[in-house]
Amino acid sequence: MSARAILAVAAAVVFAGVGSLTAQRGSDSADSQMPPGRERAPIPSSEREKRILDVLDRMVRGPYSGILSVPPEDGRLLRLLAEAAGAKHVVEIGTSNGYASIWFCLALRTTGGRLTTYEIDPDRASLARENFKRAGVDTLVTLIEGNAHETVQKLRGPIDIVFIDADKDGYLDYLNKLLPLVRPGGLILAHNTTDVASQMEDYLEAVTTNAELETIFLHKRGSGIGVTLKKRRHI
Ligand SMILES: C[S@@+](CC[C@H](N)C(=O)[O-])C[C@H]1O[C@@H](n2cnc3c(N)ncnc32)[C@H](O)[C@@H]1O
Repeated sequence: MSARAILAVAAAVVFAGVGSLTAQRGSDSADSQMPPGRERAPIPSSEREKRILDVLDRMVRGPYSGILSVPPEDGRLLRLLAEAAGAKHVVEIGTSNGYASIWFCLALRTTGGRLTTYEIDPDRASLARENFKRAGVDTLVTLIEGNAHETVQKLRGPIDIVFIDADKDGYLDYLNKLLPLVRPGGLILAHNTTDVASQMEDYLEAVTTNAELETIFLHKRGSGIGVTLKKRRHI
């Protein structure tokens, strides 16, 4: 092997290693002062879970890794919240290739829940469908193609979790249309509340000034996720 070929292989190995660590330990960089390496990759407790995690891992490193998706640490948060909430119905606005949807499905297969996800781009929608089949979660997902500002109007509640991750200047419209369907105690999650906050000022104002809602922001060093609780009515 020539010196140049050896160098190329060495560079590829280092690059792959960095990519893998980023995928598995990404959240170290998301918020905290925690020492690197404290958080570990998810540990599958069954063959089913392993299959889904493998698909997610391949999506991060595969040919479509550049496609718009949440980073792995945000995906893990979505799974955690959905499972902790015992979610029966999650709604996602902006499917892309289905990466975040599959994180939700990791939770939904254990809660007996289902996901309704919306995508305007037919190519991304068909890519997502392939990924759902690959992960074996296609029976949990209803993917609705078209402009979600219109198509969500057919939705019926109750919804446990709404995840908004599409056109940023449309977040407030999605909130206004979906909030009435979210059950008391349910969550509205919004992606990119750090990196493109300026494009959703009206949404951020709405979720931080309404006494019926409680909003915090997580993963602020990454893209940011707004977590809004629709408060239960107390007597
Ligand atoms: C950031 S990506 C979603 C990523 C996905 N949630 C994930 O993490 O895997 C945003 C997606 O929203 C879609 N989108 C944008 N405007 C939309 C609309 N009005 N209705 C439905 N989907 C829309 C885009 O085509 C794009 O695929």
